[in-house]
Order: sequence, then structure tokens, then C-alpha cells
Amino acid sequence: MSRSVASVVTAHQQMEGGGFPVRRPFPTAGLDQVDPFLLLDEMGPVEWPPEEAIGAPDHPHRGFETVTYLLEGHMCHRDSFGHAGELRAGDVQWMTAGSGLVHSEIPHPDFQKRGGTMHGFQLWVNLPRDRKLTTPRYQEMAAAEIPLAKSNDGLVQARVIAGECLDVSARIETVIPIMYLHLTVAPGGSLEQPLAPALNAMIYCFGGAGEFGPRRPPATDGQLVIFGDGKLVDIRVPDSASESLEALLLAGSPLDEPVARYGPFVMNSHNELAQAVEDFQAGKMGRIAPESQ
Ligand code: FE2
Repeated sequence: MSRSVASVVTAHQQMEGGGFPVRRPFPTAGLDQVDPFLLLDEMGPVEWPPEEAIGAPDHPHRGFETVTYLLEGHMCHRDSFGHAGELRAGDVQWMTAGSGLVHSEIPHPDFQKRGGTMHGFQLWVNLPRDRKLTTPRYQEMAAAEIPLAKSNDGLVQARVIAGECLDVSARIETVIPIMYLHLTVAPGGSLEQPLAPALNAMIYCFGGAGEFGPRRPPATDGQLVIFGDGKLVDIRVPDSASESLEALLLAGSPLDEPVARYGPFVMNSHNELAQAVEDFQAGKMGRIAPESQ
């Protein structure tokens, strides 16, 4: 049974981190989370003049995962345990913050000097109660390492970041079952994506437009489609469309646990949040050494 569309949410714009523009479909006043997903930000696209690009300087996280998928630009990442890396166009960083760390996500010095377009996504994936304090872990994947799936007619392409699509499986391991696909659907293309019925599912459109579910309500650039129950999600782009649909298909196993959130910490209770703040202030999540910034 194809999942029907439960709601369509239009992302709102706001400033995040040190002041970069994001489109955020959730959380909002009306939509706290799409369990197990806590936040989805489309960063940019923004055209930075030389020396003006802004990122997210040192800040902590505990109790969940941050997934960064860069479409354009060049970012630098460092954390309080000495981990450092770069993200270029098409790269993914799946960071399990777990028990906690402090990190910075800032433009690469070369990008900073030259300026250019920055565009990408950050998704927050909640961790179940018994994994919230797991040891921090990174899974980093360069663009070329991300499996690519294509339909027989060539009209649908999927970058398989988590889960599977068109018989292609992702290489990233997830703590709970998660599907994360970047879909490009050309005019006249369609996809019926099987999904375990227990998963919550949504599609965020960030280019073009598509039709979803059995009743085919349309959704367009900047809109999030949230699906109801069923065994598959169907997506169509009419022949008459002038451009391809670009979208993220996200699905995950709901945790059905209490969510206590305070900025960069997401736990199950207020006491655990207070502990997170105390541990951060006591330096237990580490600090980024000034000379390495
Ligand atoms: Fe962060």
C-alpha cells in the first residue's frame, strides 16, 4: 500500500550558527520532531563574498547524531578529541556525538579567502536511551564513495547515504534503521520506494517539484512532505515539468521516548540535560585547543 501524504510543511528561513542562512522545515512551533529526526536544516545556498563566509564555531553536542551532507562549498571540521576533517561537494559526515564532544564546523580557509557558494544539509538523528552516552564516532564518506543507484529508464538517480534504493545499499551503518536518499527525478520519472511499515517517512524538496502518494498532492522547492502508514512511498515528476526534482527521502524507526532538548543537547529528561550542561561546563566534553583552531 502506498503511503498517503499526512501533511506538507513549508520550511521557514532563519539564521543559524555564527549567522548563516538556513531553511528549516522542523523543528517549528507546530512540528517538534519527526521521530527519530530532531532537526533538518538546508544550509544556503548562499553566495559568500571573499572573507565573509560564516560557519558554526566551537559548540558541544550530546545525546544524538549530526549528519552533514555538503552539496557545494568546502568546510573544515575539528573536535575536542583531536579529530579533524574536511567536507567538499558531495561528501557526507555522519557524526555520532553520543556522550559528548565540542566541535567547530567552519568554512575551509581557501573557501574563506575566495568566497563562493555554500549549500548543504544538516540532519539531527536522535539516539535511543541506551545509546545516548555511547562513545563518539565518525563515519566520513567522500562523494565518490557514496553508492549511486539508477532506475532502468535512467530518469531516477539516488545517492544512497543510508538504507537502500533500487537494489543498491548504503555503506554507512546506522544505530537504528535509517533511510537517507538524495533523489534526482527527471521529468517523466517515478519511483516506488519500499519502506518498512514501522518507519516514519518524509521527503524534503529542495529543487523542482514532485507529486507524492496515491492522491498526488504536489510539493515544491522548500517543502517537506510527511507520509502516513504504508509499505512504500511513491514519487512522480510529470512529463510537463520544466526541471528535475531534487529531494531528500528520510525515514527512520521512531524511538517513542521522551525528548528533552536544550540547544545542542538532546536527552530523555531535564535531569539528564542539567547533567549535560554541567559536564560541558566542567570540560568533560573536552575543549578545542586554541592552536588547532
Ligand atoms: Fe554541530
